[in-house]
Amino acid sequence: MKIIFVASEKASAGLAGIPVFDGGKLFGAAKSYASHSKGQLAAAMKAGHFCGEKGTSVSVYAPTGSKLAGLLLKGSGERASFDAEMFGAEVMQALRVSGEKTLTLHLDGLKLSPDEGARAAVGARLAAYHFFKYRTKLPKRSETTVTTLRVSVDDPRKARAAYQGFHGPVCDGQLMARDLVNEPANTLYPKSYAARIKKFEKIGLKVEILGEKKMKELGMDALVGVGQGSRRESQLVVMRWNGGKKADQPVCLVGKGVTFDTGGISLKPGAGMWDMKGDMGGSAAVVGAMHAIATRKAKANVVGIVGLAENMPDGNAQNPGDIVTSMSGQTIEVQNTDAEGRLVLADALWYAKENFKPQVMVDLATLTGAILVALGHEHAGLFSNSDKVADAFATASAGSTEKTWRMPLAAEYDRLIDSPIADMKNIGGRAAGSITAAQFLQRFVGEIPWVHLDIAGMAMKNTRKDPRETTLGTGFGVRLLNQWIAENYE
Ligand code: BES
Ligand code: MN
Ligand code: ZN
Repeated sequence: MKIIFVASEKASAGLAGIPVFDGGKLFGAAKSYASHSKGQLAAAMKAGHFCGEKGTSVSVYAPTGSKLAGLLLKGSGERASFDAEMFGAEVMQALRVSGEKTLTLHLDGLKLSPDEGARAAVGARLAAYHFFKYRTKLPKRSETTVTTLRVSVDDPRKARAAYQGFHGPVCDGQLMARDLVNEPANTLYPKSYAARIKKFEKIGLKVEILGEKKMKELGMDALVGVGQGSRRESQLVVMRWNGGKKADQPVCLVGKGVTFDTGGISLKPGAGMWDMKGDMGGSAAVVGAMHAIATRKAKANVVGIVGLAENMPDGNAQNPGDIVTSMSGQTIEVQNTDAEGRLVLADALWYAKENFKPQVMVDLATLTGAILVALGHEHAGLFSNSDKVADAFATASAGSTEKTWRMPLAAEYDRLIDSPIADMKNIGGRAAGSITAAQFLQRFVGEIPWVHLDIAGMAMKNTRKDPRETTLGTGFGVRLLNQWIAENYE
């Protein structure tokens, strides 16, 4: 979609979205549409009992005194709590299949910040997204017809700069993460996924791919064990971006990329198992974030690492009770082969720590069903060994719209994963399931400041009613990571 920022002016083609505030208040160019309409807009608003209330709207087609095909007057409630991103999303949701190619968002006269102007475009792009790649037949009015989005603001130069320098590339990354989550496991498996990431060398990332042979040499038996029942070879992919000072230790982003999670020999029930194609949502966030970091040329050194494996039952699969030795040297009793994400991350985190001596590490994973029980689909669970980094994440979370909630770590929980016959076991029992999973990860991060984000409730759309979320894959994490890096390391 082409995004154009323009100064207050009346649009001459296509459709326009106009916010109307409590009491029927109009701003900027919207006022001029009203005055040229010879009373038509006022009459339509009156006939529709419309006075700008949130959640209401009025459409006027072929408006008098303008060349537009139509206007959408969108009730936006109180001016003070106006959310330009949500406005962009709601207008796009209402008009995306209209048949028109051009849509103008009229935000002029509102004196929005450059970020708000840019985010109106982001909201619209997120709402316009769909995944129809595999549909050979589509009902009419399915595909987005809008190809040009015009955002009319008071200072288009600054909004354009905010969009091109940050919000646009981050949105590209988020949509890429959605594509990855939506892709099924017969086309997106560790090797095909790694090949997709390898193409990022075009945008200036260094990409290195480790196969099973190399991982075995390094002693990554925890990660390799997860994929050993699969015909698909596991991969570890490392993406490097050097945009900061040479001496700066990197920020490491680590993602769980289980391209399909059957549970392995500890097989999951069949109902709903299809969504486990999205068990690589953490890796998708890392991949999308790295793409954004490279295309916006972030002034920071960032390493992205994704552990890619398919968890299958098979004659060669690992059994419950197997003991594996991780790259760290610590041994793990695999009591449940469905607690595989932590096995993948154990080696990926240790590898990150040993190879890159990062100043801080973040991992993202669709790690536990228990985090859905605790936090539902509204917050990602945040675990950290550093109050400072956890606080920085809370700030970035508020600034990026991606919500997190801090959960505890403590020695009392850590004890729950002790095993009598190995250094640890990979499950802790029913109680505090997300916390014991995080405690497991903490055993592989040493003294490095670290945040773990359990995004099992966030990576895949469920019950949330948000016009920006149009498919299973949400792309959660890309915005949060970029916001956090921009605020703290650039
Ligand atoms: N991938 C799942 C977690 C998950 C559940 C992600 C629902 C997205 C939606 C993970 O590998 C898993 O199976 N976890 C187990 C852990 C248990 C065996 C300790 C779980 O949550 O049941
Ligand atoms: Mn599992
Ligand atoms: Zn899993």
